[in-house]
Amino acid sequence: MSSATATFDWLDELPITPGPRHLRMGVRGLREGPWLIRDSLTDQELDLKTQLLAEHDSLILLADGWDHAVSELVDAMGVEAEGSGLEMLDSACRTVAEDVLLMANDGSKWSLVGGWLVFPNQWSIEDKLGKSLALIHDPIDGYGEMLQEKADTFFDRLGTTRIFWRRNWFFHDDGGYFQPEKMKNRPLHDAVDASQLVIRSEYQTLRRLPETDVIVFTVKTQVAPIVEMRERPDLAASMVSFLRSATERALANKDADDGRHEAIIDYLSPLDLRFEHGRTEPAREVPSIGR
Ligand code: HEM
Repeated sequence: MSSATATFDWLDELPITPGPRHLRMGVRGLREGPWLIRDSLTDQELDLKTQLLAEHDSLILLADGWDHAVSELVDAMGVEAEGSGLEMLDSACRTVAEDVLLMANDGSKWSLVGGWLVFPNQWSIEDKLGKSLALIHDPIDGYGEMLQEKADTFFDRLGTTRIFWRRNWFFHDDGGYFQPEKMKNRPLHDAVDASQLVIRSEYQTLRRLPETDVIVFTVKTQVAPIVEMRERPDLAASMVSFLRSATERALANKDADDGRHEAIIDYLSPLDLRFEHGRTEPAREVPSIGR
């Protein structure tokens, strides 16, 4: 697929927070701007979505009894969508780049009742359907101790008038949008290896639908070649100081563990330090949107 001009202003929103508590809520009220985003990559992303939906089953799922929530979602999105239930979900999915997950409360906990996940970051909706927020996050080291109670309380208290957002980020070897399974990270030996990485980030929003009380969790996937970070000196400096002080657990959460952080620090550090041993400048490579 050919690449469109991508802007990477979102890199300025990355939460790069040093400190021992490596998992944070990081939710903020959306003050301005639209709920769902249309940008220069959206058309390409929608094309990729169409291809992936044709090639893979079970990227869109809905538990029984939630058709009304889908209608309410479609109204909130302000899009035209045909049919009802799963058919309507499929139709709505094809109108936006975001992934959308629907969370409902059974009186004691919030669980995943449906949605679509076409650009998964190493998980699948099939694996998590029906699971509670706590179980969904079971593979996340530290979630139970640091976030579970806070996230559950946030869900309980979320009102219908405000939309909230948060962001995550990771150093990935592969810039592909479609990553349904856990991947093992490549060892990085030096700055040249690190120059091939991408930063994958999800802009996530949360809002509650007033009629069905379903909470809509949206995920907009964004990918930038790491060179974009190096070209923002303030950002690169914050990242270097984060990587220097982070615990191994925090590094693992960012896919920068097992010594990978050292190569990344080397790559993001100022030029005179980075190439002092006669290394050559790595090729600048901007990946296109891909699977
Ligand atoms: C306030 C809401 C939420 C918070 C604070 C939160 C927090 C987190 C954190 C800290 C991680 C670790 C990776 C990262 O740094 O992002 C994570 C991963 C994840 N979150 Fe959430 N999350 C929230 C809502 C949700 C919802 C509604 C879903 C619904 C499906 C979800 C699904 C996942 C999945 C699937 C992973 C990856 C799990 C894996 O590795 O298998 N999260 N979340």
